[in-house]
Amino acid sequence: MTDRADPAAPEEPAAPGAPAEEALTVASAVAGTSTTEAVAAANPLRDPRDKRLPRVAGPCVMVLFGVTGDLAKRKLLPAIYDLGNRGLLPPGFSLVGFARRDWKDQDFAQLTYEAVKAHARTPFREEVWKQLREGIHFVPGEFSDDGAFDALAMALAEIDETRGTGGNYAFYLSVPPKFFPVVVEQLKRTGLSDAPEGSWRRVVIEKPFGHDLKSAHELNEITTSAFPESSIFRIDHYLGKETVQNIMALRFANNLYEPIWNRSFVDHVQITMAEDIGIGGRAGYYDGIGAARDVIQNHLLQLLALVAMEDPTSFEAASLRREKEKVLKAVRLPANLALNTARGQYAAGWQGGEKVVGYLQEEGISPDSTTETYAAIKLEIANRRWAGVPFYLRTGKRLGRRVTEVAVVFQRAPHLPFSADDTEILGQNALVIRVQPDEGITVRFGSKVPGTAMEVRDVSMDFAYGESFLESSPEAYERLLLDVMIGDPPLFPHQREVELSWKILDPIEEFWATQGQPEPYESGSWGPTSADAMMARDGRVWRRL
Ligand code: BG6
Repeated sequence: MTDRADPAAPEEPAAPGAPAEEALTVASAVAGTSTTEAVAAANPLRDPRDKRLPRVAGPCVMVLFGVTGDLAKRKLLPAIYDLGNRGLLPPGFSLVGFARRDWKDQDFAQLTYEAVKAHARTPFREEVWKQLREGIHFVPGEFSDDGAFDALAMALAEIDETRGTGGNYAFYLSVPPKFFPVVVEQLKRTGLSDAPEGSWRRVVIEKPFGHDLKSAHELNEITTSAFPESSIFRIDHYLGKETVQNIMALRFANNLYEPIWNRSFVDHVQITMAEDIGIGGRAGYYDGIGAARDVIQNHLLQLLALVAMEDPTSFEAASLRREKEKVLKAVRLPANLALNTARGQYAAGWQGGEKVVGYLQEEGISPDSTTETYAAIKLEIANRRWAGVPFYLRTGKRLGRRVTEVAVVFQRAPHLPFSADDTEILGQNALVIRVQPDEGITVRFGSKVPGTAMEVRDVSMDFAYGESFLESSPEAYERLLLDVMIGDPPLFPHQREVELSWKILDPIEEFWATQGQPEPYESGSWGPTSADAMMARDGRVWRRL
């Protein structure tokens, strides 16, 4: 489908085939030049007709709250290193960790080093690390401790002096949701949320943004009382995934799919996010939240919006968000939630050759918890394009394998001029966007089986990122952290999208709250039987993954 990547593409400004990342890092270390100039200078093969500037961050400090959490260690700290390794961070870039630990700078540097070594996408290079290390600082304290935030303000002022970061700060709240308002209030109290003339202050809030419509609204009130809307970045890391952004390229850069992307041709859509892991050490976060609030309200509804929306007039935040909002507004819940939703909770079983415990036996989970670890829901979209086409969303932990995909399943051909025997095993055409792993796209269609008969059966045509592009895809957080530092918001949902998504989910959560214990399913299986029954009632089946 796609040919080799364009070497002059704006986000990969170094020469093709050359150690691009090395060139960029060295460039950004050149003192006295702006990063943009340095990047351009480091790439003599850059096409001079290409007026697009590489997307690199200007001088700034990233302040990370919750540095000892899983997300920071596995994703955020490695992503920062990877950005540095790709030359996309400015020379004076500084990273400040804030946590309830009696630590010094070197302890946080050690944690960062270990996280980078274990989880960075790009190779470890001593000179990149040294450069990053010079800007690492730590401020100890509780979120409720005024003194700690005063110390943070002083530390930031000093960093501005010594590293030329110009008062530009991004505050990343990778903390349990109950602390979002506390930290925002502190940033407001200390004046850290107010950007002096010529500088910027931005806040990044992890999902879930609220736990229902009302709380999302309240959190927004607090956040907007401290930061202007344009400085609030509500993160949904799925939007940073290459394969998710590619949904827009697939639909709107081609003429092949859009004519059939509607109720006249599409039978239904299945959006699946299956995980093989359990809740790990996240009992405190997950219990009481559950699968639907954890990922349907955000990741899966965002996928639905991208698959179902009309084409935006541009990819600027306002246009893109407007189209997503229109779709989310048009989503309708089925009248009978008992028959058209399913939820489950993993029981003990086998996963990857190991015996694993059930959810209720996980450390930190109360033995009568009714939190679901699997959720499936059927939605419709009340507009001209999609009326009558069901969208089935499912997600679960401890399922058979890790896979996220969007499958657009087409109606059967209106007439088959073959004998019934010859098409007995022919399925429905499908276009499957493989979000992860094995990133790519598959088209499934019927083909003649070689031989003397006219037997037709399903075959597939594959596009795989690994085969078509030389570069490996950046991690979602690399893209999103860079966007925050640049101040580029299209890949961050607006408050209106967040609230529309809660409007969809709230009635389901309210209904489930009256239903007692979710149906148990064996770890390593494909979820509760009620989810299969829900599809069977519609004469359909979940795709086998
Ligand atoms: C997070 C959820 O948003 O996404 C986790 O809170 C989930 O429960 C994770 O495991 C999955 O992310 P990814 O990128 O591995 O699909």
